[in-house]
Amino acid sequence: MRPYVIINAAMSADGKISTKEHRQTKISGNQDFARVDRLRANCDAVMVGIGTILADDSSLRLKTPDLIAERAAAGKEEQPMRVVIDSQARMPLDGDMFKKGTGRRVIFVAETAPEERIAALAKKATVIVAGTDKVDLNLVLDKLGEMGVRKLMVEGGATLLWSFTSRKLFDEIRIYVGALIIGGVNAPTFVDGCGFTRAEGFTHLILKNVEKIDDGLLITWLKKEE
Ligand SMILES: NC(=O)c1ccc[n+]([C@@H]2O[C@H](COP(=O)([O-])OP(=O)(O)OC[C@H]3O[C@@H](n4cnc5c(N)ncnc54)[C@H](OP(=O)(O)O)[C@@H]3O)[C@@H](O)[C@H]2O)c1
Repeated sequence: MRPYVIINAAMSADGKISTKEHRQTKISGNQDFARVDRLRANCDAVMVGIGTILADDSSLRLKTPDLIAERAAAGKEEQPMRVVIDSQARMPLDGDMFKKGTGRRVIFVAETAPEERIAALAKKATVIVAGTDKVDLNLVLDKLGEMGVRKLMVEGGATLLWSFTSRKLFDEIRIYVGALIIGGVNAPTFVDGCGFTRAEGFTHLILKNVEKIDDGLLITWLKKEE
């Protein structure tokens, strides 16, 4: 069974998820950080694309001690599984994802990834080949399902989210809209990729909820089945 997929990200009022130098920036506040950590704690796995790791050195770990303790008390690993989509096995071996927090790390690579990189990563993580020259997200979701992942949180970035949203490989989108403008044609937006033409049609959503958090809005959308 494939996991239920929740995409969660924070964007500025003009739709940017980081700056034109692709630098991570504070878009929400403490109340929203707590919400995101709670969501991580409630998921079996959290995922990003390699672009996010290379830009931000994200550790992807759950940080709130009470949430870590809650997971442990419920008989779960302290940290949800941390997953990176990385066709060419570019994941840095000294990255924060390996240095911080406990638990399972899983890197999905493609068949064309250099063997020596796969071997080096395999000392620190479970490396799974899924796809020929690019990681195939359908295979990834099947594999995560087999590994017992029932709820998956996908945190970005813009390129990975295009793949998930354009192929309709998600169930829910939770997007925090912060009270700032970042601007810049080269700053990543919530979803980048090549985009749809009108003839191709779009990915349609159903509005589920709107909530004021900190000085911005959390919008929850569901995928519209067509
Ligand atoms: N505000 C937020 O909530 C938030 C959250 C996360 C990230 N971000 C920002 O997003 C930016 C990074 O976004 P990004 O677009 O550069 O990188 P990304 O989406 O994190 O990663 C994209 C990379 O993933 C790999 N990939 C492998 N298979 C793929 C597939 N099937 N579909 C899509 N990607 C696949 C590709 O590299 P290979 O071909 O080498 O595998 C691709 O270039 C950073 O600036 C970061 O700060 C913001």
